Amino acid sequence: MISTSDRAGNSPSNLRFIQTERPLVDETLEVLASLSEELPRLSPKYFYDSRGSELFEEITVLPEYYLTRSEAEIFDRHLDDIAQALGSGDIIIEPGSGNCSKVRPLLKRAAPSAYIPIDIAGEFLWAAAANTALEHPNLGVTAIAADFTQRWTFLEEIPKGRRIVFYPGSTLGNFDPSAQQDFIRQLAQVVGTQGGILLGVDLHKDSATLQRAYDDAAGVTAAFNRNMLAVVNARTGANFEPKEWRHQARYNSEMRRIEMELVAQSMQTVTIGGQTLKFSEGAIIRTEHSHKFTMASIQDLAAAAAMTVTHHWLDSNARFCLALLQNA
Ligand code: TRP
Repeated sequence: MISTSDRAGNSPSNLRFIQTERPLVDETLEVLASLSEELPRLSPKYFYDSRGSELFEEITVLPEYYLTRSEAEIFDRHLDDIAQALGSGDIIIEPGSGNCSKVRPLLKRAAPSAYIPIDIAGEFLWAAAANTALEHPNLGVTAIAADFTQRWTFLEEIPKGRRIVFYPGSTLGNFDPSAQQDFIRQLAQVVGTQGGILLGVDLHKDSATLQRAYDDAAGVTAAFNRNMLAVVNARTGANFEPKEWRHQARYNSEMRRIEMELVAQSMQTVTIGGQTLKFSEGAIIRTEHSHKFTMASIQDLAAAAAMTVTHHWLDSNARFCLALLQNA
């Protein structure tokens, strides 16, 4: 395995690595503004320091967190079908590629000509992409370190040909509905009329199953949620006390979304950028939404981007859906 420390002079010849510039934002002002809203919130981007990334990997193997396993099962059960629907020689683009593990069955079976992982965590991305390139010496890998939720300034780095955007893990559900539409429309432009979007999303179901998935018995998701306050402290010089905040995850079945929150266990006084914020006992900070989908809502999303769901596959318990969206 290649680790990030191997980077100097040890790049596989079939790997290109592109580091885009990160836009400068004043995170102190950003945090102050979002905490001062009527319903105080923090951006989910503050989940992911290295501790957060580790905790998230732990979440994906929790007994209650069925999402990752269900999606993997879909690939196990339907790989031939999926590969056939995609065709060969495609260019696979994966926003939020993480450790590049979800794409593995596709790379093995669908024989794409190029793989373009995109992730905000540059060093982690380089190592994951280098391992993928070594494993597939005939595959051109172009790794792009960028915040994929911002405008794609790196489009000219993506090879031309039939493009498939692979967007697994129900990451789309972490956007609110109007942002989901905007993002799918943007992806539709990236793939053009000949391409497609291979989208993995979690399905609406009973509240108990969903709440368990986001509030596990071992408390890993609680630790992940509270870690956000430590990340905010590190990035803005704030003085949150993570231990004084309780994890809460509830399914809002009307809005079809998990609402993850932190609840103050006692009165909290927090100083950020010279300003003092007071939170009374029971005050709530919203940290994440995880929207759930139905076949109808997936079709609506496709339609909003002038696409249709040409294929879809489910796991054996019908909990999770992998859908292929193509031009209408
Ligand atoms: N997108 C996945 C989901 O919504 C993973 C995820 C993102 C997640 N943020 C999370 C899982 C917070 C648990 C807690 O499930």
